[in-house]
Amino acid sequence: MKYIELNEIDSTNAYLSKRLLSGEITESTTVFTHSQNKGKGMGQNIWVSDNDKNALFSIALFTEIKTEEIFKVSLATSMAIYEFLKLKGITTKIKWPNDIYYDGKKLGGILIENKLDGNVVKASVIGVGLNLNQEKFPKWLPNPISLKNITGQDYDAKEFITGISEMVEKKLNKIKDVPFADLRLDYLLNLYCFGKIMMWKIQGIKDEISGSIVDVKPSGKIVVQAVSGQLCECDIKEIKLIDDF
Ligand code: BTN
Repeated sequence: MKYIELNEIDSTNAYLSKRLLSGEITESTTVFTHSQNKGKGMGQNIWVSDNDKNALFSIALFTEIKTEEIFKVSLATSMAIYEFLKLKGITTKIKWPNDIYYDGKKLGGILIENKLDGNVVKASVIGVGLNLNQEKFPKWLPNPISLKNITGQDYDAKEFITGISEMVEKKLNKIKDVPFADLRLDYLLNLYCFGKIMMWKIQGIKDEISGSIVDVKPSGKIVVQAVSGQLCECDIKEIKLIDDF
């Protein structure tokens, strides 16, 4: 793994995506920064972080997997971060599809952008924002938390960035050829709210429903079973957890 350290950048994801397209990046590379002024989050969201407090990095990997297996990139990343944090004594949950949660609060987020060629994922840019040492967050952020908030300790961002990058690359190589059926249970067992009855708003269903996550599909869609017994298979745009203020 090659490492690039930047003092300041708009977004480490944008930095790597640009250079992947231009052919400048030709091997597994992690870029990390001390300050990100236009951090991208999932969907239309932005990612905010105080300077020099948190882990802000993106990993470019030459994935080479079929597009129908694209969810494995997300699964490998969230599981690798989960396992890295576990080694540090912090037991997190993965909020589907790939947020890192602790005690119902968001400790980290992942943004994956892929470079496709036909039905093959040629390369992935895996962006990770992990809150380490920041103690106060803007009021408008719904439910942030940092490792410092949890343990009172300070953490070395570089150690997290290199450790997680290596683990993500290793994990993805390991699970690339493993059937999804063999990965499913491990992921489900680490999933935030798995099997718990929660309130959901599902596209196409007028009222909110109460139900629980019962499964995840190879496509990455989750299956929620309503208390009425009805099964709903949803992607990220089709479902919202209501209790998730
Ligand atoms: C989310 O919305 O939860 C995903 C957040 C991902 C943020 C990280 S910070 C480093 C990398 N660069 C970006 O612009 N975004 C990701």
